[in-house]
Amino acid sequence: MTKSQANTSSSAPPKVDGLDFGFNVPLDRAELSSAKWEYEIARKGDPTLLCFGTAEMDYRAAPPICAALERVAKAGHFGYPYKRVSYYEAIIGYFNRHFSWSIQKDWIASNVGIYPSMQPIIDELTSPGDEIIYQPPVHHIFPEVITAAGRTAVANPLVKRGTRYEMDFEDLAAKTTARTKILLLCSPHNPVGRVWTREELERLNAFCLERGVIVVADEVYCSLVFEGVEFTPFAGLSQSASLNSITLVSASKSFNVTGLKHSLFVAENPDLRDAYMRGLKRNNLYFGGCIFGQAATEAAFRDCDDWSLAAVRYIQGNFEYLRSFIEKHLPLVTVTTPEATYFAWLDFGRLGLSVDELRSFFEDEAHVVVTLGEPLGAGGKGHARFNLGTTRSLVEEGLHRIAQAYERRTAS
Ligand SMILES: Cc1ncc(COP(=O)(O)O)c(C=O)c1O
Repeated sequence: MTKSQANTSSSAPPKVDGLDFGFNVPLDRAELSSAKWEYEIARKGDPTLLCFGTAEMDYRAAPPICAALERVAKAGHFGYPYKRVSYYEAIIGYFNRHFSWSIQKDWIASNVGIYPSMQPIIDELTSPGDEIIYQPPVHHIFPEVITAAGRTAVANPLVKRGTRYEMDFEDLAAKTTARTKILLLCSPHNPVGRVWTREELERLNAFCLERGVIVVADEVYCSLVFEGVEFTPFAGLSQSASLNSITLVSASKSFNVTGLKHSLFVAENPDLRDAYMRGLKRNNLYFGGCIFGQAATEAAFRDCDDWSLAAVRYIQGNFEYLRSFIEKHLPLVTVTTPEATYFAWLDFGRLGLSVDELRSFFEDEAHVVVTLGEPLGAGGKGHARFNLGTTRSLVEEGLHRIAQAYERRTAS
């Protein structure tokens, strides 16, 4: 939950829920062509497939975002965009309003995505052979972007205690060497759904400052934090954290505009900003950007708090449904309790299936697509990530199919 949501819920709770925005109404997919659905259906040649994989939601974007895009389309000129003051005010206002994080206009740069921003950062702030730490299980791009740059990806796996994941600080200390230059933090964490506490982040900050490691915080899920949970931006911890870190964030995941290709880079430290700009220039990413993505980002951060709160509530409801369904019908499967994101992280390990068998279990037996945990690195084996950013009825139907496949498997 964001601070402004907490404030409103303690005084006059806004009455928004998913029904106000039609989250329970299936999208008409006739004109849609998405990696989440149409790609998977074509890949499997299975029109009955239900898709809970790719990280985006099956909801129409918030009305102010659609209106902003319509205004751009209506103007009919699609040149290189210029960022007006209102763009910066929307972003600065959002982070201040929700997380009491005060950022300044000249700390902000943009790009076409979070991952495309990691590359220039790594190129400029490290040398070939340097080590970069990441915390699996995490999106497979984290180690891939490191190794693609000729750097060494060092895993500091999260540890699971009960149904909750924690950072392993002893392992982190053991893995950090004189060549360790960056820690790629995922906060809130995809796929395990943790929102790191202020204490955990302070401990991480103290460690990284002492060992001369820069923190690059991917906070793309910061607006999808569940009610009752407090998110702290890493750079908002203290000035020492702010000066030793870069924040990568965007409206893409939380406001469901992943195809609009606009992300933010935020750093207080001018040396880190200069390094980033050098990296962008080197890759010819310095000019332009997507005029639609820019307009959507401004609208998302300024005008969509009610939509965002409704999405969080609806997804939290989907999770509660999933949890009780799995407890009742799939007793061998363990559910991690998320504090953010639209993912349920499920442990199917007790079924004893290999990664190929698990894929076949979902796709060929249950006719559903999920993201398998094994490619997400250490700790992912036997797990599946189920995307809850969809209608309740699709969650029900998907789980029903998985339960039938599970019964057939466990009966034999
Ligand atoms: C943690 C995380 N960061 C970033 C991204 C991708 O962001 P972008 O499309 O802006 O590169 C993803 C996509 O799934 C993600 O899970």
